[in-house]
Amino acid sequence: TYVVTDNCIRCKYMDCVEVCPVDCFYEGENMLVIHPDECIDCGVCEPECPAEAIKPDTESGLDKWLEINTKYANVWPNITEKRDAPADAKEMDGVADKFEKYFS
Ligand code: SF4
Ligand code: F3S
Repeated sequence: TYVVTDNCIRCKYMDCVEVCPVDCFYEGENMLVIHPDECIDCGVCEPECPAEAIKPDTESGLDKWLEINTKYANVWPNITEKRDAPADAKEMDGVADKFEKYFS
C-alpha cells in the first residue's frame, strides 16, 4: 500500500483524490489518509502530490504512518472530490513536526 505522511498535514492539496482509481482516500480536518486494504498499489497518486507526502510503505521508517493511515481510514469519511487547498498550504509545506503540532 501507499501511505500519506507528515507533510500532508495542513497542505492538504487533494490532487491525490482526483487520480485514485479506487477512491481510497479518507478525510480528516487537516490531512487525508489512504485505506491500506483498498489501495491497489498503482502508484499514480505519489507524483501528483505537490507536498510529496505520499510514499510506498515499503520505504523504511513508515511504520508509524501505516498505523495512522490504517486507524483513521476506518474512522474518517471517504473523499472523492478535490476542493481548494487551505489558503496557507504553501507556507505550511515543509514545516517540521506537523504531526505533533497540527494532526487532526
Ligand atoms: Fe489510490 Fe493508487 Fe494511490 Fe493507492 S497508489 S492510493 S490506489 S492512487
Ligand atoms: Fe495531502 Fe498531497 Fe493529497 S498534500 S491531500 S496527500 S495531494
